[in-house]
Amino acid sequence: MVQPMQLLESQVALITGAARGIGRAIAETFAAHGAHVVVTDILEDEAQAVAAAIMAKDHPHAIAQHLDVSEPEDVQRAVMTAVTTFGKLDILVNNAGVLRPHLIVDMPLGDWELTFRVNVRGTFLCSQAAARQMIRQGKGGCIINIASACAKKADRELGAYAASKAAILGLTRVMALELGEYGIRVNAILPGATDTQMLRDVTDAIPGMLDALRAKSALGRIATPQDQANAALFLASHLAAHITGEALVVSGGEFMDT
Ligand SMILES: NC(=O)c1ccc[n+]([C@@H]2O[C@H](COP(=O)([O-])OP(=O)(O)OC[C@H]3O[C@@H](n4cnc5c(N)ncnc54)[C@H](O)[C@@H]3O)[C@@H](O)[C@H]2O)c1
Repeated sequence: MVQPMQLLESQVALITGAARGIGRAIAETFAAHGAHVVVTDILEDEAQAVAAAIMAKDHPHAIAQHLDVSEPEDVQRAVMTAVTTFGKLDILVNNAGVLRPHLIVDMPLGDWELTFRVNVRGTFLCSQAAARQMIRQGKGGCIINIASACAKKADRELGAYAASKAAILGLTRVMALELGEYGIRVNAILPGATDTQMLRDVTDAIPGMLDALRAKSALGRIATPQDQANAALFLASHLAAHITGEALVVSGGEFMDT
């Protein structure tokens, strides 16, 4: 049988929020392409199950690790786990995120703060710890931030979420600039509506919304987690060796940044 091309042979990748949805698809896709993956999440049992499922598919190099991205000690421990288990860290995917939809006039301060705590502080803390490790290793690296098409467009009730994702885009550009001299590439993916629990939590409450989202896409469907994982695979691989500081929209034409 012809083996598929292994785009991430022996690379070590840490993925946050990887117990389900887009993060899970990224962990599985990276492992299928030869990476050693650290599956991290606050949902420990689910993360363990993802790592076990990856191992069961003949990809022997997956471990699960509890990680709340907003807790500095958790972040340090997760990076150290990657290094002590697999010897190094090459790729970080900042995927963990939360969505708390409210009109601005109704927004509870706690939901605003949680959104920034996970989406922005979490991305900063994980990126800082990973970048320090990559600089110590001296062989470059790759950071991928899962932002959102919402960073560049207005949707009702997404004030905190859109602002947090726009902050991630700013962070992506500055990190790309500062870390380029170490050979560390930093890019963002901006998913459009993607079929995960996060989206279902919103669409289940609003009859017809899923169909409306499908109709907005030029391709007539919402994205799958695999669509986003494929974009992450490309950005993590040598095929994107000269791409940094960019924001790749994966929305089937739901959002066109022209
Ligand atoms: N689904 C979409 O339509 C969509 C669109 C644009 C962007 N995104 C982004 O994609 C990413 C993944 O979202 P998803 O759709 O798979 O959602 P999801 O809710 O299915 O998965 C998010 C994961 O993040 C984890 N998480 C939450 N808080 C955490 C914390 N403090 N520390 C560590 N992990 C934590 C959750 O436990 C969960 O496993 C998010 O950043 C989200 O904002 C999703």
